[in-house]
Amino acid sequence: MKLGIRKETISGEARVAAAPASVSSLVELGFDVTVESGAGTLSGITDQDFEEAGAHIVASLQDAAPLDIVCTVGPADSADIDTLGGGGIVIGLLDPTNHEDELAGYARRGVTTIAMEKVPRSTLAQSMDALSSQATAAGYAAVLLGATEMPKFMPMLVTAAGTVPPARILILGVGVAGLQAIATARRLGGIVSAYDIRPETREQVESLGAKFIEAPTQKMDEGGYAKEVDAETAAKQREVLASAVADSDLIITTAQIPGRPAPRLIDRSAVEGMRTGSVIIDMAAASGGNVEGSKPDEEVNISGVRVLGPTDLAARVAADASRMYARNQLEMIKRMVVDGELALDPDDAVVGPAITHSPESGETA
Ligand code: NAI
Repeated sequence: MKLGIRKETISGEARVAAAPASVSSLVELGFDVTVESGAGTLSGITDQDFEEAGAHIVASLQDAAPLDIVCTVGPADSADIDTLGGGGIVIGLLDPTNHEDELAGYARRGVTTIAMEKVPRSTLAQSMDALSSQATAAGYAAVLLGATEMPKFMPMLVTAAGTVPPARILILGVGVAGLQAIATARRLGGIVSAYDIRPETREQVESLGAKFIEAPTQKMDEGGYAKEVDAETAAKQREVLASAVADSDLIITTAQIPGRPAPRLIDRSAVEGMRTGSVIIDMAAASGGNVEGSKPDEEVNISGVRVLGPTDLAARVAADASRMYARNQLEMIKRMVVDGELALDPDDAVVGPAITHSPESGETA
């Protein structure tokens, strides 16, 4: 069984789909592991680290073709498919919603595609939940980014030069990223308020020492996700949130609805109501944005308020984000090996839902 770890190709992607510990475990499972030279550099993992863990280093994964599995962080490309030589598996955060045609094309070339995004959010699958591990990294990184971009201290300081009040932080959307953002902002001494459409998040917010904002809530869908709200509820949300928005030095928005555009929680007039120099980090910028006017990977200035839409937050803590992701993928791959052989089971409760396309069926989940 030959498995390859590619060097990521998208600019700004500092993560890698393996770590020395995951490579050692893959070797123990019976894999012949090949790593593309430099794949771990931006995550602080050298070729030598991978070699010592039992991997071969090659200049290009092509040199090790044909492989049985290619592991990626971001979406696959045709170079990855070439290394599989007309069969095999590619596994990664393949962004199936936006890459349907490419994934179907790979299946026609004999490749099975496994999207880590499709791993069920169940107790059984927790160790394989890459959306959660990477959202944890991103939520943490968002607060650190905000702390440095804001022209203020986060904690209260009592100094000979006077007392500095703590910064007021607002977190909108309290999923995995939002919870980590609350915890991180609290550790830095900020006064934190938060809001989510799911009522059960109130207890989580309060247990982290933050204040839950009274705005409309509604039950989630059967999959455990928030549903899209109607226009009237959305307008009510924006109206209620506007005063909390105006009172904040830093806002981090994380609200998402899987497969749908992100909900608009802050409109332009609410941004204009904030103090000059305040900062908003819209973590949903790539899926349409929670903030009117935010743009992916750009900074927009609205009446002196800086609105940032970074899409590389997890990659900013690449060493740990990569280790967590590598562990998620390792646990997935363990479920695909029986008696030292690759045995992909479409009925497996975790792997099955993550198979987006396979050569036999053309298309599944
Ligand atoms: P996500 O990234 O899809 O969305 C982030 C947050 O935005 C969610 O908390 C959602 O409720 C909120 N949101 C959506 N629309 C909103 C609106 N109009 N106003 C305010 N907030 C809004 O969420 P994530 O972090 O991926 O988690 C999704 C769900 O999966 C959550 O229910 C979470 O508790 C659950 N989960 C379960 C796990 C498990 O059982 N193993 C593991 C991880 C997550």
